[in-house]
Amino acid sequence: MKARHFLQFKDFSREEYEHLFARTRWIKEQFKSYRQYWPLIDRTLVMIFEKQSTRTRLSFEAGMHQLGGTAIYLNTRDSQLGRGEPVEDAAQVISRMSDIVMIRTFEQEIVERFARHSRVPVINGLTNEYHPCQILGDIYTFIEQRGPIRGKTVAWIGDSNNVCNTWLQAAELFDFNVHVSTPPGYEVEPERAGLYGTGHYEEFSDPMQAARDADLVTTDVWTSMGFEAENEERKRDFEDWQVDAEMMKAAKKEAVFMHCLPAHRGEEVTAEVMDGPQSVVWDEAENRLHAQKALIEFLLLGRIEQ
Ligand code: CP
Ligand code: NVA
Repeated sequence: MKARHFLQFKDFSREEYEHLFARTRWIKEQFKSYRQYWPLIDRTLVMIFEKQSTRTRLSFEAGMHQLGGTAIYLNTRDSQLGRGEPVEDAAQVISRMSDIVMIRTFEQEIVERFARHSRVPVINGLTNEYHPCQILGDIYTFIEQRGPIRGKTVAWIGDSNNVCNTWLQAAELFDFNVHVSTPPGYEVEPERAGLYGTGHYEEFSDPMQAARDADLVTTDVWTSMGFEAENEERKRDFEDWQVDAEMMKAAKKEAVFMHCLPAHRGEEVTAEVMDGPQSVVWDEAENRLHAQKALIEFLLLGRIEQ
């Protein structure tokens, strides 16, 4: 049987996400009650990092251990990947020695090429284009805090980056709306975002307008990994795209604030919002662990009915 991969958000159906969310809830409960759940004894996850990480590495590594398995960390600097071994060759070898692979890299094309030559499931742990594991955890967090996301409005303030693109794919799948506000020149590129064009997002030149009546306000760093050379220019261009208390007031009273982290207080978000009562960023970060455990379980063992 051909391995199933998780390379972008639209790779799974809504119904499969409903299953993952139910499993996430159950797996989280086991973890919180110190109950062991070790279905993956003898299974190995290989994690390949071509960019830095705290949350993704930790949540995958800890998650795999908590499921009874093992995780191995590889990075570009210390492996032959950094010396130009073709990604196709690496995929052949790594997937013969492991059961599942997670990759964080630059172009989406790299994870796709890896997956085409892999015998085992491949998970995208962030590319320039997408961050599907992040939005898996984020939507679980929204549902946990506020109930179903269908019909709700998410305000995305800032760069139309990998996290934004993934929110846009999720909106088409879960039938909610995204109000996007970016500075001129940083607008959404629907093709790069991999959208079907179902009209689930709207662009606003004024970030305050985008935030109006939103159920969730979210943002991300102005400069993503790999784009550091543009940092100074971006600081100037994004100056007016900061999520602050006034912007949160424009949103619904019960709106939550999310950020994939790491955050730069004083740039894309004020400390007041980041550390304020509407912020759910720590639950959001924690839920990466539980949601990805459900994802690994699904990719390796299929549907576990509870
Ligand atoms: N949000 C996220 O993916 O964080 P890391 O870069 O620390 O993995
Ligand atoms: N957009 C950010 C997300 C980091 C988790 C980046 O790609 O650097």
